[in-house]
Amino acid sequence: MRYRMHVILLSLCLIKVAWPLPQGAPTTACQSMVPFHGGIQPQAGISPYTVAPRREGNKVVVTLTSGLGVPFQGFLLQGRTPDGAILGEFDSSTINEGHPLDCAEPADSITHNSPNDKSSINVVWTPPREYEGPVIFNATIAQAYDTFWVGIESNLVPITKRGANDPTFNFPTEPSSRTPPNFVPYQPKQSSTEFDPFYDGCAVNKLCFGAPADCVSSKSCKAVVGVIVTGDRYDFELKADSNAAWVGVGLSDDDKMGDDSVIECVKRGNGVAAYMSYTTAPNYGAPRLANPQLGIQLLNSSLVDGTIYCKVRRDVSTNVNGRFYDLVSGKYNLLIAAGSSVKPNSVSFHDIVYLASAEPQALADVSALAAKSKLLIRLHGCFMLAAWLGTASIGILLARYYRQTWVGHQMFGKDMWFAWHRTFMVLTWALTIVAFVLIFVELKAWSGENKPHAILGTVTTILCFIQPIGAYFRPHPGTPKRAIFNWLHWGIGNAAHIVAIVTLFFAVKLTKAELPEFVDWILVAYVVIHVISHLVLSVMNCVAERSGENRITSFPMKDLGGSGRTSAYTDRNPDAPFSTFRKFILAIYIVIVLIIVIALIVITALAPIEEAWSNLKSSVTNRN
Ligand code: HEM
Ligand SMILES: *[C@@H]1O[C@H](CO)[C@@H](O)[C@H](O)[C@H]1NC(C)=O
Ligand SMILES: *[C@@H]1O[C@H](CO)[C@@H](O)[C@H](O)[C@H]1NC(C)=O
Repeated sequence: MRYRMHVILLSLCLIKVAWPLPQGAPTTACQSMVPFHGGIQPQAGISPYTVAPRREGNKVVVTLTSGLGVPFQGFLLQGRTPDGAILGEFDSSTINEGHPLDCAEPADSITHNSPNDKSSINVVWTPPREYEGPVIFNATIAQAYDTFWVGIESNLVPITKRGANDPTFNFPTEPSSRTPPNFVPYQPKQSSTEFDPFYDGCAVNKLCFGAPADCVSSKSCKAVVGVIVTGDRYDFELKADSNAAWVGVGLSDDDKMGDDSVIECVKRGNGVAAYMSYTTAPNYGAPRLANPQLGIQLLNSSLVDGTIYCKVRRDVSTNVNGRFYDLVSGKYNLLIAAGSSVKPNSVSFHDIVYLASAEPQALADVSALAAKSKLLIRLHGCFMLAAWLGTASIGILLARYYRQTWVGHQMFGKDMWFAWHRTFMVLTWALTIVAFVLIFVELKAWSGENKPHAILGTVTTILCFIQPIGAYFRPHPGTPKRAIFNWLHWGIGNAAHIVAIVTLFFAVKLTKAELPEFVDWILVAYVVIHVISHLVLSVMNCVAERSGENRITSFPMKDLGGSGRTSAYTDRNPDAPFSTFRKFILAIYIVIVLIIVIALIVITALAPIEEAWSNLKSSVTNRN
């Protein structure tokens, strides 16, 4: 029995917590319109809701809605004279969501039936027979138990007296709403971002994190989040560049996208809406939760000159897709992102910026978050570019076509072509191994089964790794096994080079590489130059071989055995024919490859290059 009582009391308490007045406002709220929410203050900022009266025959239809799609749970609506007297009568028979309340006269107010989420309410109001003059519709709208706006007023609606023969009204035909009295427009300074109020208090009483890296100190973020913790309230402020359609902040267990709980603020109509979403594997997006308002309330928002700003309160603990997020005890990496377009039910790719903080951190710890350094990724990219477009290309070309050039000249006791080939290939090997180690240090893991860049890159590295081992144990020239070695060395070397070039094309598609798409065209240019050089040199070799058939010194083409072999040729110029032209081609090839490699290394090192470019431009214009 006692146990039963407890259960009943407990469930009553639970109802009370969820919504203290589940059946609507009491008559005690008639004048002030403030709901009794335990001393909780109404919201001070612009409300996301509108009160719009519309003429319909000789009645007024009042619509309560949010242009931003933010649902509401409770409301109290009245028609009033400009000096605050309640008048008229609501017809509640036409709606399910509300019931009348008798304040001064019967049914002169209307309030909600239940705390269910509502997206909009249309209710019919009739003026008193004798009234002539303006009327204002005044509403209190509650987004949630502790988030409500009081005194949301409509436009003035002029009412003419209803004579016996004159049942007409004088309404504006367009739905309209007056700006709430407490509306304070949010005005970021356009000309000088230095006074942007968003950054006030960063690292003092709020935790700020923005992209691109280090933008908080220069107040120049394209996307930025500020987390303000007061007691057990966690408020997230988000702001993005003027061309952004959305800005989001993710709470993550690591510094990568995937399995992160995201609060996103999205442009909607002339306002901003807030949603909860959850990131799937990297690059696969962030679908909204089944309940996109789970654990959040939009406290404040604005869209001024296209700049999204929002302030969202997030519950201290939430269970998102089976993961428990506790903002007090948990430590999270913050991911900040913004993009220029949205899909119907989620945001699109973060094409404007994306950045992860380096270390997980308690949100109440306001000290500035450092961005994850991109140094290792950049070094990985630059080393691989230098290795496979630069040293490998030149080294392979030398071994293939220049064995009969500079004949007789030696370096460290080796033929020229061999000494240089070996130098270039040792460089390629070293750069590749270092770059491979660097990316694993960076990722600390194998980055993905379905990632062509990672898979092909590993294949390249393995092929590259074994190549000098084989070369070290190569059989002596002239022995039968030498031919097998030659073919293997040639096959593996070329395979590694081709796979490497394909890997480079896939690198352009990696989000983290932040390479612009035109890099594809630079790579295509490289492939074209490379193929043309090979064709020209091959043709030249054929012609040279034919004309050299009657020379005393003929060279077995597939013999790579230049090592240790002292030249026995005594001719003054023992080179195969066209050697001057060959040297000329080599010079051109090296110059073009060098230009391509330097250009790509600059793009990779400064990635994202568009940003470096615009920073440069603005610093130049600032100086003028
Ligand atoms: C032929 C040249 C290249 C090779 C052989 C290569 C090799 C690899 C390998 C094996 C991985 C996987 C590491 C792992 O899963 O843990 C990887 C990842 C990566 N590489 Fe390369 N790479 C090359 C060029 C580049 C270039 C030019 C860039 C440009 C910056 C680049 C950027 C990246 C990035 C950002 C990742 C990490 C991808 C992720 O997080 O999933 N790579 N690379
Ligand atoms: C909403 O934003 C405006 C402008 O930044 C500010 O003046 C107002 O105090 C904010 N309201 C709340 C509840 O934070
Ligand atoms: C609407 O309600 C608010 C809050 O009670 C009040 O301050 C305001 O004067 C009201 N407007 C009218 C026209 O009564």
